[in-house]
Amino acid sequence: MSSVAQIPKSPALHEELTYDVSVSERHVVGEDIVSLTLRRDDGGLFPAWEPGSHIDVFLGEDEQGEPLTRQYSLWGAVEDRSAWRIGVLKDPASRGGSLRVHEQLIDGAKIRVRGARNHFHLEPAKSYVFVAGGIGITPILPMVRQAERDGIPWKLYYLARNRARLALLEELSGLPAEKLVLHCDDENGMIDLAGITSVLGEEDHVYACGPGPLLDVLDKMAQKSGRWTFHCERFAAAPVAPGRVDLPFEVLLSKSGTTHQIPAGVPCLKVLREAGVEVDWSCSEGVCGTCETEVLEGEPDHRDAVLTAEERAANETMMICVSRARSARIVLNL
Ligand code: FES
Repeated sequence: MSSVAQIPKSPALHEELTYDVSVSERHVVGEDIVSLTLRRDDGGLFPAWEPGSHIDVFLGEDEQGEPLTRQYSLWGAVEDRSAWRIGVLKDPASRGGSLRVHEQLIDGAKIRVRGARNHFHLEPAKSYVFVAGGIGITPILPMVRQAERDGIPWKLYYLARNRARLALLEELSGLPAEKLVLHCDDENGMIDLAGITSVLGEEDHVYACGPGPLLDVLDKMAQKSGRWTFHCERFAAAPVAPGRVDLPFEVLLSKSGTTHQIPAGVPCLKVLREAGVEVDWSCSEGVCGTCETEVLEGEPDHRDAVLTAEERAANETMMICVSRARSARIVLNL
């Protein structure tokens, strides 16, 4: 996730609770897309959550015996605390997560979830333009509902390769049709994002979620324009820029006083876990925010998709699963 706007930080890191839940409704809501409704096994309510939030879904272990955890955005109604609803696309490049959801999470299946966490906050704005690509509709839908409830002008551009890939259409049908643009590449060609954003002004915010290339294009347009504010949620951290090399660095853990050498090409998280340091982690790809760790000294080399530009510049925290250090040593509050 990334944004060029200031986002309020969570009051504390890693304060989410875990819940044992069952799948109570499973529906196919698009080609290779299922929607799951999750309810607590103890009958309790889930904590309140905001549009943009996601949860961790614990799916057992992968072939290497490592925990298999995936992050999915909540798309249901924020007022309904009796259920969390997620949408999952069966990814052909799946490393096991989405495949396991599609094959094993049938009605009645029991799993554990954690959350909710939000790195994709809906900020006050004069108007919103929402852009969702495919399964990227899931975090955007609650934002659209919020904007409609608050009476703030909005428009949603929902893009897909073809009509079968548009998910949650039943949910969208309850929204004002004139604010909704469904765009299928096979029917309409490529959408004119430059035209859409050319009329935006300083108090307009664009929120987008979808494939990386779509977000990269919007990000570049936002930077070039310098007027409107762009926020996005990514499924994967952006690739490391060519020529950006990994340097070895030393990590000092302030609580235990231990030091650890992080070789080039080896994630800090991996070194710390192998040394027996207890650290929270989930995606290991710099997208979920679970491993966010306070930096007490040193300069991180941020490579995640979670922190905003301002948060990166502040260097107060880093995602230790992917981020590294520009300084020879870094001190973490662990
Ligand atoms: S474990 Fe998900 S961002 Fe690091």
